Amino acid sequence: MAKRHPIIAGNWKMYKTVSEARDYAVKLLEKVGDITEVDVVICAPFTALSTLKDELEESIVHLGAQNMSWALEGAYTGEISPKMLTDLACTYVVLGHSERRELMRETDEDIAKKVKLALSSGLIPILCVGENLTQREGGRALGIVRGQVERDLADLSAEELARVVIAYEPIWAIGTGKTASSQDAQDMCAGIRSTLAGIAGSVADEVKILYGGSVKPDNIAELMSKPDIDGALVGGASLDPDGFSKLIMNAIEGVRK
Ligand code: 13P
Repeated sequence: MAKRHPIIAGNWKMYKTVSEARDYAVKLLEKVGDITEVDVVICAPFTALSTLKDELEESIVHLGAQNMSWALEGAYTGEISPKMLTDLACTYVVLGHSERRELMRETDEDIAKKVKLALSSGLIPILCVGENLTQREGGRALGIVRGQVERDLADLSAEELARVVIAYEPIWAIGTGKTASSQDAQDMCAGIRSTLAGIAGSVADEVKILYGGSVKPDNIAELMSKPDIDGALVGGASLDPDGFSKLIMNAIEGVRK
């Protein structure tokens, strides 16, 4: 099996104006503009995508959005369609982030529709899954995550499934400074892979699985050294271009371990 090429993706969430995004892109490219060992992705607010397209177009940095509609176009006030994202040179889209599940009441049914539409529109979905603290403490983490994976990836062909990226993001580790131990993260990523194998056999070996939740420059190498962790989805620590560049370089060290 070909080795899965790692991904380090920054999720800016609702941060950065257009001019801040432009400054960031210039600084990031100065630091990591020629690396090839990992794929670097910036998932930016919709409003910054056009500027980032211009700044990053010829570079190794890929562009992603943080959400999209489950419809291709139509009378859906306030929504953004996958066609609009591919037009802005996006290759990735984060779907089902816990902040959208919890705060915006997105359901597995909504997310499954979005995943399918992203794939048919030529976007790579980064599907986020993860348990909350009560579920983890009750010993239900694996069952919860398995259920999300099965429901959100329902009805995909093996070829479609192979293109999905999954981000395991335990809710209790997001923005809290509490990272899952690298072994707990590895165990869950392996559990996700075995769930995928149950759905689609050996295709599971091709699916990239990221970890997210308080990933920092000083814990990324350890996470990357684990066999089922193929990268990271980084929130707070992706907001500063110097810090994020350091995190990317440390990730490369971890892959080499
Ligand atoms: P933090 O890295 O800030 O914990 O956020 C993780 C996250 O939600 C990425 O999508």
